[in-house]
Amino acid sequence: MDELNTEHRRVLERADASVAAAAERAAADPRRPIYHLTSAAYWINDPNGPVHFDGEYHLFFQHNPFASDWGRMCWGHAVSEDLVYWEHLPIALAPNPGSYDKDGIFSGCCVIHEGIPTILYTGVSPECQCLATSEDRLRSWIKHPANPVIGTRPRADLEGFRDPFCWRDRGFWYMALGSGIREDGGCVLLYRSADLCEWSYLGPLFQGTTGVMECPNFFSLGDRWLLCVSPFAQVSYAIGEYGEHRFQPRSGWRLMDLGRREDFYAPNSMLDPRGRRILWGWVQVGPPGAFWKGVLTLPRVLSLRADGQLGIEPL
Ligand code: FRU
Repeated sequence: MDELNTEHRRVLERADASVAAAAERAAADPRRPIYHLTSAAYWINDPNGPVHFDGEYHLFFQHNPFASDWGRMCWGHAVSEDLVYWEHLPIALAPNPGSYDKDGIFSGCCVIHEGIPTILYTGVSPECQCLATSEDRLRSWIKHPANPVIGTRPRADLEGFRDPFCWRDRGFWYMALGSGIREDGGCVLLYRSADLCEWSYLGPLFQGTTGVMECPNFFSLGDRWLLCVSPFAQVSYAIGEYGEHRFQPRSGWRLMDLGRREDFYAPNSMLDPRGRRILWGWVQVGPPGAFWKGVLTLPRVLSLRADGQLGIEPL
């Protein structure tokens, strides 16, 4: 193992020890939800990298293993066979001091490339896109020697350059990245790669008028495509067409959830082996001073209804 990954193991041990030391007190708190997924202790925000592999569902999440507020972002990890009962696993990724991800492991996705589970995340700072792979059924992760695989921004006037969401289409990997054009509005950048290491920029997949479009999710639903973004406001989505590397909304933009932004933000989704598009969001709940803060929503199944509207049902 290289020096960076050896150091990573040590950082993870400290992070896991911190969570373990607080987990009993978190679990003993009668206010802590047990029906919704949360971390074993301390802060959780965005769901990250949901994926099904070898009979198990994996869900990662933005996690501060040291306190019940945002900071020192890691990827927490839970596994489930049925999407109801979850088991906490050791933290998957933590920042390496002095490296390209020293200020945080920000949101991203997990794909299976040539049989190898591969996480794509945003390293901070400056924001850059990075890979980590697992050879042991997603239990431990090696940061890739080619990191950062996207180190520089395609143009100088961007605000935000994060939260890779990847999918496979006709022999290539595609990546949607959350961004915004200064003094213009939020946008989603599109990249393409054959091997997840070398990426070429294809231009904006979509450009709008909101704030930075955090955590884009882009996928086909029936015979249409759906783009969903978290623009520092309630999560919105549009249904439309995708061609020539551009998304054309055909519906108007709508809210994915009618609650406040604090009730549903930064959702992330996966396609499961049964063909269900399953989505989780982050709910910002938790009393002050507790040993836990935040939960994920229950899994929701998305579909395109016969009338062309988005259907959302609890799984
Ligand atoms: C959304 C977000 C992402 C970022 C992460 C950091 O809530 O701001 O854009 O990757 O949280 O925790």
